[in-house]
Amino acid sequence: MADQAPSVAMEAVLKSSCELPEDSLKIRGYDFNQGVDMKALLKSYLTTGFQASSLGLAIQEINHMIEKRLEPAEEVDEKESGHPAPKSGCTIFLGYTSNLISSGVRESLRYLAEHRMVDVIVSTAGGIEEDLIKCLGHTYLGDFSLPGKELRLKGLNRIGNLLVPNDNYCKFEDWLMPILDQMLLEQNTEGVRWTPSKMIHRLGKEINNTESVYYWAYKNNIPVFSPALTDGSLGDMLYFHSFKNPGLILDIVEDIRRLNSMSVYAKRTGMIILGGGLVKHHIANANLMRNGADYTVYINTGQEFDGSDSGARPDEAVSWGKIRTDAKPVKVYADATLVFPLIVAETFALHADKLAAAQRTD
Ligand SMILES: NC(=O)c1ccc[n+]([C@@H]2O[C@H](COP(=O)([O-])OP(=O)(O)OC[C@H]3O[C@@H](n4cnc5c(N)ncnc54)[C@H](O)[C@@H]3O)[C@@H](O)[C@H]2O)c1
Repeated sequence: MADQAPSVAMEAVLKSSCELPEDSLKIRGYDFNQGVDMKALLKSYLTTGFQASSLGLAIQEINHMIEKRLEPAEEVDEKESGHPAPKSGCTIFLGYTSNLISSGVRESLRYLAEHRMVDVIVSTAGGIEEDLIKCLGHTYLGDFSLPGKELRLKGLNRIGNLLVPNDNYCKFEDWLMPILDQMLLEQNTEGVRWTPSKMIHRLGKEINNTESVYYWAYKNNIPVFSPALTDGSLGDMLYFHSFKNPGLILDIVEDIRRLNSMSVYAKRTGMIILGGGLVKHHIANANLMRNGADYTVYINTGQEFDGSDSGARPDEAVSWGKIRTDAKPVKVYADATLVFPLIVAETFALHADKLAAAQRTD
């Protein structure tokens, strides 16, 4: 019998390694012998691996955006140049799917708008109306397994494990119809050309409620884009209104020029995109106009095997010129409700004082 293992097996198993770079991070998680220190726990995510490390990298990437945002932008006379002047060294584009406004992530998003920490918002129709509707009636915690038939009989609508009473939409109709009448009057008598972003600005003014994201977007002059504004309750109301008092027009061409111009003339740009679909592509496409965003964080559950844009990793956007070739974009594969409030805690909220001071010197 041979007294030595076969050399082929020995060489295969005991193959020697090359040295890793000096600055390589060593995997090490949180040690609860330190007590419960939530900040240190969150810090340990970077060296925990898997999506915990992606979360740590996303925090770093957003802090890079904030660092550049604190640099003053060059003085540009908007009237003379004919284009929007960037307000800071990094224009931040924030996008989120409708369900995130239905969820409690809305409060994190409102915080960002309230303190003017982002410059451009993109959402889908539900992401606009659900914020306004929440000012008229509550959304409740339900369960993913509640049967649709029973809920329909009770007039309760389900979004995941959330429940929205149908009465909320009736209240929304009562609130919205006179505003649509007034908008139509202004269109016909003053020549106002309404766009989705102008309409959202107006609705933010009318709701006049500090709990609303769009109230603060209105107050702080943050444009909110939603090119498919009719795909939700707002569309239902616009449909009904077109019978009662026809003629209101929303121009999406003026909005695409406004959105793309904010990208083209920015000093640098950062994209923070929660979820996929329209919001993800609309922001990335605007950034193509400047040959790519400088900083990117995607948080979504999409996978790329089906070729969907929702699931596409940042590298696909690099191939299209939507993210710069020298950028270090981050994708976190996670439900945004789990990770976005944690990210805000370690980025915008952490630097709130510095960001506020920079605005005072605007
Ligand atoms: N509350 C609502 O969800 C609601 C209400 C009214 C209308 N709508 C309409 O439904 C249409 C589709 O909605 P949408 O485009 O906003 O997005 P969506 O709900 O279709 O989601 C798009 C993709 O985003 C990702 N995603 C969604 N939720 C996520 C989460 N919590 N965490 C991480 N990733 C997530 C997934 O990959 C998903 O496939 C829109 O036109 C919208 O106006 C939605």
